[in-house]
Amino acid sequence: MDFQLKTLTGSQAATEKSDALIVLVPSGALAVGDALSALASAARAAGDLPDKPGKLLSLYRPEGVAAPRVVLASIGDGVPGSVRSAVLAAVRTLKGLGTKRLTLVFAGPADGAAVHSAVLAVADASYVYVTTKSKSEPRTLRQVTLGVADGNAVSSAFAEAKATAAGIEFAKEWGNRPANHCTPTLLADAAETLTSQAHIKCEVLGPKEVAKLGMGSFASVAQGSSEPLRFIVLSYRGATKDQAPVVLVGKGITFDTGGVSMKPAAEMDEMKFDMCGAASVLGVFRALGELKPAINVIGLIPSCENMNDGKALKPGDVVTSMSGQTIEVLNTDAEGRLILCDALTYAERFKPAAVIDIATLTGACVVALGGVRTGLFSADDALAKALEAAGEQSLDRCWRLPLDDEYAEGLKSNFADVANIGGRAGGAITAAKFLQRFTGAFPWAHLDIAGTAWKSGAAKGSTGRPVGLLVAYLVSRAGAVQPALPKKGRKAPAAA
Ligand code: BES
Ligand code: MN
Ligand code: ZN
Repeated sequence: MDFQLKTLTGSQAATEKSDALIVLVPSGALAVGDALSALASAARAAGDLPDKPGKLLSLYRPEGVAAPRVVLASIGDGVPGSVRSAVLAAVRTLKGLGTKRLTLVFAGPADGAAVHSAVLAVADASYVYVTTKSKSEPRTLRQVTLGVADGNAVSSAFAEAKATAAGIEFAKEWGNRPANHCTPTLLADAAETLTSQAHIKCEVLGPKEVAKLGMGSFASVAQGSSEPLRFIVLSYRGATKDQAPVVLVGKGITFDTGGVSMKPAAEMDEMKFDMCGAASVLGVFRALGELKPAINVIGLIPSCENMNDGKALKPGDVVTSMSGQTIEVLNTDAEGRLILCDALTYAERFKPAAVIDIATLTGACVVALGGVRTGLFSADDALAKALEAAGEQSLDRCWRLPLDDEYAEGLKSNFADVANIGGRAGGAITAAKFLQRFTGAFPWAHLDIAGTAWKSGAAKGSTGRPVGLLVAYLVSRAGAVQPALPKKGRKAPAAA
């Protein structure tokens, strides 16, 4: 999908050629003088377009407008959340109508934040999964023109939004693929496609290299599957070599049966989403390659299946992690932390400025926060605050949970340095406490996305979260969205 930003006056927007036009109408008096503002004012006055954000009025071939379909959408006070709900609702009414060219115009002033949320909402509402369907209609939307009063004033917010949307889409695509179409090997192939973008490199390690590194904990999860594990190392270099990188670690369990501590059958299909942390890391790199911020980022993805088999890990087995710490595996379904701990130890070699892991880690986090906010854990207040702020800014919100040492009590083991589960109480926190044991060498934060990475039920599908939060965080760190190194000018890969 191609997004374009244009400076348009009201009358230019009315004559803009497209299949559909969405007019974002703020509350309060409108400047009249062009066909669109006149329509919106008349609809308001007649009570046909209530002020509430997300309220719509659809029109067909109204006088003086070039586009055949027009949707007036109220955005209330124009805050990003209101723009988002209005655009989502308006784009949904156009779904299935074969709209190829869409123009979206702000009838009032629009700041960078409003533009950002409009772009992301169009991308979100028009996304269609097609990869494993034989006859489904792909997304028809080809071109989206965003009309604002002053394009120059919002161009960097627009560029950031466009790149973020591409990243979210990449993450959704890989999150949604069934496990037999998204094996560790295929996930590594997806990571390698990203190297066609500027400043991105990728290295993929297999079972032999992982064994040599001493990642006994990661390898123990993979041993019950006939799909070989992959350890993916991505790097994005947008700044000079001496600048310490941010390391992102994504949980890449391409399917989680629970292993010998098997999960119940109901909804087990959703455990194909257990690599959404990994997909979010890929999505962030997709965005970085397009946006080229002045920052260095490393992406680490331990990826394998968690299966049951004659060779599978058993409850009570003790494994040795790369850090040297031994782990008693009391529950093979607490496998995410077993693969992440070795990736966290591996991260030390980059002398990182910060390490953030992203994982669909615990059902307990879903109980605690539902699908609205991602769980955030960090002992570093500055890092936690920066991530909270990025979440607010991108409407991809998180909520900080505690890390008191008392929560680690339950992880004691009689047979190893640590056990991989505590009790049932505070399960999201004990998981974070387990991970924290492997993060002594750098500032660290953990994002538990078990509730936010995908939706269940009729709207079942990956959300692409928390790509928005992470890109906002990285861009804020970079300070300005400027290429620090010369562009290589290579072509960006498609969403899939
Ligand atoms: N991938 C799951 C976490 C999960 C469960 C995410 C349900 C979303 C929905 C993880 O590997 C897991 O199984 N965690 C266990 C940990 C427990 C055994 C301590 C859980 O949450 O039940
Ligand atoms: Mn599990
Ligand atoms: Zn899992």
